[in-house]
Amino acid sequence: MPDNNCSEMEPEIAESVLELTPESLQQAIEMRQRLHRRKLKQTQEGIALANSLESDLGVPLHRLHEHFGPYPLFKLGSDSNTPLHKKLYQLHHHLKNLYQALCSRVINDLVGEPCYVQAIPCYRFGLPNNRWVGGFHHDSDFGHSGWELNAICAFTSAHNTAALQVEKEIGNSDFEPLQLKAGDVVMFDHIERLHGCVPNREDHSVASIDFRFVPERFADDAFKYAKNSINTKTPMLPGGYFSKEPIIVNS
Ligand SMILES: [Fe+2]
Repeated sequence: MPDNNCSEMEPEIAESVLELTPESLQQAIEMRQRLHRRKLKQTQEGIALANSLESDLGVPLHRLHEHFGPYPLFKLGSDSNTPLHKKLYQLHHHLKNLYQALCSRVINDLVGEPCYVQAIPCYRFGLPNNRWVGGFHHDSDFGHSGWELNAICAFTSAHNTAALQVEKEIGNSDFEPLQLKAGDVVMFDHIERLHGCVPNREDHSVASIDFRFVPERFADDAFKYAKNSINTKTPMLPGGYFSKEPIIVNS
């Protein structure tokens, strides 16, 4: 899902990476498949984040459409640059500690090993009759690394046409909605599985964040080929797009 924090890199990188580092990449692929759809239900960390964001905005997140927009139908490459997106990213500095707590929870309870985490998550919202990502894609289409893991934290419920549509079987285009309740956190395979949104035909808005992890054991290979994000030119490296240090697992 490209946006102002997500990157787009040269597509030929993936092939050279495969040739040079098949072992760690294969381990990452297996890990991503194992974790796909693993969920933490209605986390206190996710609910705290949603409540804090709602308080800062002064608007119920499921009623965003009554206060913002309407916006032109989101398209790939321009699905994260509305005034509301800008406002959400401006508010993130209030939410840093809560976001860190959420990342720690995911690493402790789902991933199970130290990881670098996306420094600023991707903020998403879907208003009725619009969609929250601009088209169906693999994140690897935009250069995201095969060593990444990805998690989504729902700030509102997201069902049916308001949910992210994700391939059930890789390559089959057999999409199913990733049904979530507010506070749910789910790991999802953003690299191998085609995913996207259909127009939200529900009668409420949805909001979420997605955020990426690179397990520390893959760091040498993952960051060797890192590029800058297209939009912000942020290096896809520790201290840039990713946290300066890995978040460790609590004993
Ligand atoms: Fe995506």
